[in-house]
Amino acid sequence: MQPSGDIEKKVLKIITPTQKDREKLEGAIQDLKDQVNQEITKRKLPASIELVGSTAKDTYLKNNLDIDLFLLFPTSFSKQDIAKNSLSIGEILLTNTEESYAEHPYLRGYFKGYKVEIVPCYRIENASQKLSAVDRTPLHTEYIGKHLHESQKSEVRLFKQFLTGIGCYGAEAEIEGFSGYLCEILVLKFGSFKDLIRDASHWKPGEKFTLSEGEPPSFDTPITFIDPVDSERNVASAVSIKKFNLFKHACQQYLEKPRLTFFFPNKVQPWPLNKIKTEIQKQDSRYVGVTFSKPEIIDENLYPQIRKAIHSICTACERYGFKIHDASFHIEEVEKQIIIVIKTEKKILSKTYAHMGPPVKLKKNVKEFIDKWEGDPKVVKKPYENKGRMFVEIEHEYIEIKDFLKDRVGNLSMGKHLDKIVSRNYDIIELEDLLSENLRSFWTIYLDEKMPWER
Ligand code: CTP
Ligand code: MG
Repeated sequence: MQPSGDIEKKVLKIITPTQKDREKLEGAIQDLKDQVNQEITKRKLPASIELVGSTAKDTYLKNNLDIDLFLLFPTSFSKQDIAKNSLSIGEILLTNTEESYAEHPYLRGYFKGYKVEIVPCYRIENASQKLSAVDRTPLHTEYIGKHLHESQKSEVRLFKQFLTGIGCYGAEAEIEGFSGYLCEILVLKFGSFKDLIRDASHWKPGEKFTLSEGEPPSFDTPITFIDPVDSERNVASAVSIKKFNLFKHACQQYLEKPRLTFFFPNKVQPWPLNKIKTEIQKQDSRYVGVTFSKPEIIDENLYPQIRKAIHSICTACERYGFKIHDASFHIEEVEKQIIIVIKTEKKILSKTYAHMGPPVKLKKNVKEFIDKWEGDPKVVKKPYENKGRMFVEIEHEYIEIKDFLKDRVGNLSMGKHLDKIVSRNYDIIELEDLLSENLRSFWTIYLDEKMPWER
């Protein structure tokens, strides 16, 4: 077994910028700052610019970095004005731009080959003065600059790459994992990558951390880490329970058998369709898909709506008697389609079923039960008594899940943009059409029990 120290050294060699990388990046940042400053002067704006994020904190990964440039405005400016001005500056200086949104609009694009974000915010002294969440970011940069030791920067880089490898890096809706800033304060808390991983291998959902004195407030998330610059904020709020469990498992496995593939997993090799089919046939389940067009919205809006759609569909299915084993989704980027894949019972439902009522001795409830069901058109056998309880035999409205989905999906609540699309049009796909070329990667990841580091 390779010692973890050797592996970590190898990883650091790949992810740490060289002197040459640094000079090139610093040159680009200086150019960008100069050009933004010229635009600010031209427009006579009372704004100042500040480099924030991981390129300012020197915790960025060599091959995955963005330049976060903030424009700080006095609080006397309106939100519309700060957004309008920074968007127009970004449009002039960046290429391949894309407008994004985080409380107010900001611009993403490229400058000299680097990914850049130009974000407007208000200049504040402490977090209690914030008018929007991004106003804290310069305070984060300052805090990390002051507290993170030079030698701990490598520890942050290692941790970020570890999380990237296992699919847990990023607080965005697609990932629901750890933000860069969370990585930094976790390293501050535990000192090093290794000590952090060791501690995390024992974490339980509900873990709470703080860098200050006193009991942190409670948040209903698997991890709470109180922001050292804002005691009202949980920096770990994005981490889902699924990613929490995956992370903990990865920590345990890494301690047991460290490997380079935790940091750099091998690519998914999609299985041939007949292997996928054979694996599915082994299961005591069957699959059905619901598909509809993908709306042109940003990921931060799209992913929560897809999760909501899955939740609504599964709840509705269960209410109509269909047992759901699991549900997942795939975004087909070429055809711009969303495909929700539902795993359900193999057998179809019986025509009728016995619906359980109250115990016979609860006279009042029995009367209510009888009143409720007598005369209901779905009832095939009137309320009756069996072993001290009331029952009524009811007809299943649907016995095939696909018929149910065909009729009902359009009325379910899935979020603003998906509702609009799904209420107009959607399709139900059966297994033979789910076994398609463009879903091979989806099925391989879904059916393969191997973790990313075991591929
Ligand atoms: N930020 C935050 N919470 C988030 C996302 C971002 O507080 N969920 C703030 C942090 O102060 C962060 C800054 O916005 O440092 C820039 O965001 P981002 O580029 O996502 O993070 P970095 O720290 O720059 O990490 P990296 O770019 O290396 O992933
Ligand atoms: Mg960044």
